[in-house]
Amino acid sequence: MSFYPQPAQQSEKRIIHQCPVRAPAGLLGYLDSLHTISTEQEDAIDRTEVEKVGFDNYMKDKYIALDQDKCWFVYQTCLATGARNVVEAGTSFGVSTIYLSLAVQQTIKLRGGEGRVIATENEPEKAARARSTWAEAGEGVADLIDLREGDLRETLKDGLADIDLLLLDIWAPLALPALRLVEPHFRRGAVVICDNSISSADRYADLQAYMRDPKNGYANLTVPFKNGLEMSVYLGRYGGT
Ligand SMILES: C[S@@+](CC[C@H](N)C(=O)[O-])C[C@H]1O[C@@H](n2cnc3c(N)ncnc32)[C@H](O)[C@@H]1O
Repeated sequence: MSFYPQPAQQSEKRIIHQCPVRAPAGLLGYLDSLHTISTEQEDAIDRTEVEKVGFDNYMKDKYIALDQDKCWFVYQTCLATGARNVVEAGTSFGVSTIYLSLAVQQTIKLRGGEGRVIATENEPEKAARARSTWAEAGEGVADLIDLREGDLRETLKDGLADIDLLLLDIWAPLALPALRLVEPHFRRGAVVICDNSISSADRYADLQAYMRDPKNGYANLTVPFKNGLEMSVYLGRYGGT
């Protein structure tokens, strides 16, 4: 169940009222259009073709962006927590990354200092599309993004510090390895958000078992967006009891 009706079902007024993102109307419209394409592609997924060509191959030219209401939630969480160092596991064409960049920009405006969004993408063509999406978005979106191309199990090994938020929007088998690479760099109170935590619970069994084991230091909440969205707070290993 989604908290919000999908944009197509909303009146213009409701969308503007509910969207927390501070950005020019042109950029908000651009984001709406990217979500529309992504949703249309997902609605048209041909399961037979996926089986025939393989999941990764089939998804190579698809956005598979995080749903728009979830992007708004991630943006709002970044603002609420003052997140300035953010990691995104799974970037694709870079839609959710735009929200992360806008949120970090807003935090820098409010509180000063610096920040960056570390994005990760394995497919070279997707990485190239993400860069052009960010350039088209304008508003300095690209300036804060450090896109790490290649397998995140390699690209997240170095160059992380004081991470405030990790977005797990990645193929399920990669989620726990990504978390374990970033975890040593979490500040206490860092937030981890994982998509599809209800619909893909069986595929996230290793991640959820790890995060729900109290000794690993996470406070977990399943937020009832469509297909579930897990929001966890890192209290520190053996901490927070
Ligand atoms: C669900 S999509 C991300 C969507 C993106 N967060 C958005 O909202 O626009 C997951 C992405 O992870 C990428 N991916 C898969 N395995 C990866 C790996 N080992 N390292 C880095 N990226 C990977 C896929 O190519 C895919 O584009």
